[in-house]
Amino acid sequence: MTGTFRIEVLAPEHDRSGFACGSDPLDRYLREQASQDMRRRTSVCYVAIDSTTGAIAGYYTLAAGSVQLTDVTEQMAKKLPRYPLVPVARLGRLAVSLNFQKRQLGAALLWDAGQRAMQAGMGVFALVVDAKDDIAAAFFQHHGFTALSSNPLTLVLPIATLAKKG
Ligand SMILES: CC(C)(COP(=O)(O)OP(=O)(O)OC[C@H]1O[C@@H](n2cnc3c(N)ncnc32)[C@H](O)[C@@H]1OP(=O)(O)O)[C@@H](O)C(=O)NCCC(=O)NCCS
Repeated sequence: MTGTFRIEVLAPEHDRSGFACGSDPLDRYLREQASQDMRRRTSVCYVAIDSTTGAIAGYYTLAAGSVQLTDVTEQMAKKLPRYPLVPVARLGRLAVSLNFQKRQLGAALLWDAGQRAMQAGMGVFALVVDAKDDIAAAFFQHHGFTALSSNPLTLVLPIATLAKKG
């Protein structure tokens, strides 16, 4: 990855107004909704800050969630207890500014989310993402995620697989 970035929790001093990733809903979410969701404790937004300019180069959101056991592959399910729901960390949104795309920052944010999910101090079987379209889904598949049987745009990567990569 070129340039240096620090990843931290979204705070009032971060300037969100100029963020543009190529997807209006994701830009608008950062500007208008992310802080409110944090206040309500429904998700936490992490931002990558460009050390040189202080600009927000990317962000992701993380929240606790669950998936139906019947939705994961048989290979995953056989390692899990027969409860109807399994606990996951949900990566609700992930976006990199157009100015910083194709420099491995998306991969770095994904890795950071995985680390936080692993260190959450609670039972989390997998990282789950909601891809906004097929192109985004391909990004996650490139990083080892597989689609849930109920929805091709919801993809899952077991924490055990992440731990092996680390
Ligand atoms: C998808 C997105 C986060 C990728 O971020 P990025 O910083 O440009 O991607 P990176 O440079 O980290 O790419 C890392 C790797 O993923 C691959 N990759 C990137 N986008 C990909 C895609 N859509 N499909 C398949 N592979 C992809 C890259 O080729 C690279 O591969 P390599 O490590 O083997 O060389 C970014 O393009 C973005 O913000 N898009 C708009 C919003 C969006 O679609 N968000 C997705 C979640 S809803």
